[in-house]
Amino acid sequence: MAHLPTLNHTTDSLDRIKADAISIGIFEDGSLTSRGKTIDGIINGQISSAFGRGNINGKEGETTIFYSDHALVIVIGLGKSEEFDTESIRKAGGTLAKKAIAKKFAHIACENYGGKSIASFGQALAEGLIMGSYQFNDYLIKKKDELFELEKVTVSGGSIPGLEKGVIVANSVCFARDLGNHPGNVTTPTRLADEAKKIGRKGKMKVVVFDREKITEMGMGGLAGVAAGTDEPPKFILMEYWGTKKSVKPKVLVGKGLTFDSGGISIKPAAKMDEMKFDMCGSAVVLGCMNAIAALKPKINVVAAISSTENMSGGKACKPGDILTAYNGKTMEVLNTDAEGRLILADALSYVSKHYNPAFIFDFATLTGAVLIALGHIATGIMGTDEKLIETVKKSSEKTGEKVWEFPLWEEYCDQIQSKVADVQNTGAPREAGTIAAGAFLKEFVGKDIPWCHFDIAGTAYGVKENPYGPKAGATGNIIRLVLDTLDV
Ligand code: BES
Ligand code: MN
Ligand code: ZN
Repeated sequence: MAHLPTLNHTTDSLDRIKADAISIGIFEDGSLTSRGKTIDGIINGQISSAFGRGNINGKEGETTIFYSDHALVIVIGLGKSEEFDTESIRKAGGTLAKKAIAKKFAHIACENYGGKSIASFGQALAEGLIMGSYQFNDYLIKKKDELFELEKVTVSGGSIPGLEKGVIVANSVCFARDLGNHPGNVTTPTRLADEAKKIGRKGKMKVVVFDREKITEMGMGGLAGVAAGTDEPPKFILMEYWGTKKSVKPKVLVGKGLTFDSGGISIKPAAKMDEMKFDMCGSAVVLGCMNAIAALKPKINVVAAISSTENMSGGKACKPGDILTAYNGKTMEVLNTDAEGRLILADALSYVSKHYNPAFIFDFATLTGAVLIALGHIATGIMGTDEKLIETVKKSSEKTGEKVWEFPLWEEYCDQIQSKVADVQNTGAPREAGTIAAGAFLKEFVGKDIPWCHFDIAGTAYGVKENPYGPKAGATGNIIRLVLDTLDV
């Protein structure tokens, strides 16, 4: 497991912990916590002297190592004390984890930076430490001896329930990153289904998986149509978690699990096609959330649905011009086989709308290249039919630091996906508002009056610039923390 799996907690002072290094924080005004002052005293006031001389300034991201006979101390800049929030402590944790790995310290101890024993701060610290320790090295066999992992972190002080929750949430994020980073020949639809079953066993969930035959027989024409071009078995995965009375409407999570998107007959250019192994990151968000739910067992009801297949151009592949019939009976004209995500989501959205009485539906998908043009790798594009639901999403986004930006689903856009020969077509106006056209398409498959929010994560699921607790490259596990927050997990 190439990330720190858990944390140790103690109320002992840092100098009593046996570790390769210990870490405290310093604010821009030079202030230290009481634990920090103790450590400064033990190394003869080196830290306060360095601050006094202006050698260190406490700015966010600053890391300084003080060497002494008594202790090796990593001092992390925490920024302005009046601006110190959960995102600051999450970054501090991530910064420390990365520094420890760079310096090859296997066991470190740190204080609860800032000294506030609040659950949300404990959670954020744990998230930062564990997410920051993540590396994906599973296939670097020749370089094995050069690789280094952080093995143990002991936190002195802080909220224990907060730290424990953060450990679970961050493990779920790392799990989702792994699913994304493993190549398409490993993270197959079958593998996603197996992971769902494993989570189900841990969390007393009912997990049902439909295979190609069942998918076809049930009338999931979108998923069956896209899967027609590949020999790899497609899967439709359903998970039910009942944490409270069955009469309480479930919150529903839907994910795009396209384990490799070649574009199909409308084939993609060769450059960067390898990145299309990440086209299952929507399903990784769903599985990451369900993994956290399995461990935290919140008193809510949650249903998850994942449509999973490859998009290839085998002999039976669906062709431009083909018309498929979705689970809700609507016909879909395939103008471009590369707009396959919406086709497979159409079935999942129709299925959950019909069989559950959702409190709301969230869907997650690396759906359009256009969202990257609009928002870059900075924010997830969101769209929906319910203002209140979108507001809650935006609130959670502010809390977790995972940015979202809303696009309008105006009627004029919805008109763009009306087909001349079928109920809908899978592309909008050429080169115009592609992200919204995709959202407008999905809207056709969400049951009337069900609050719904679509998350286009094509820009944020991978390829994001490194941040203190994010990976250098590859899958990010982004928005799992946001979703868990809106779900009240
Ligand atoms: N999986 C892609 C979207 C994508 C593109 C994600 C680039 C990440 C990076 C999706 O299936 C797709 O190919 N969408 C097409 C739709 C178009 C044909 C209407 C696109 O965005 O080009
Ligand atoms: Mn595609
Ligand atoms: Zn795709």
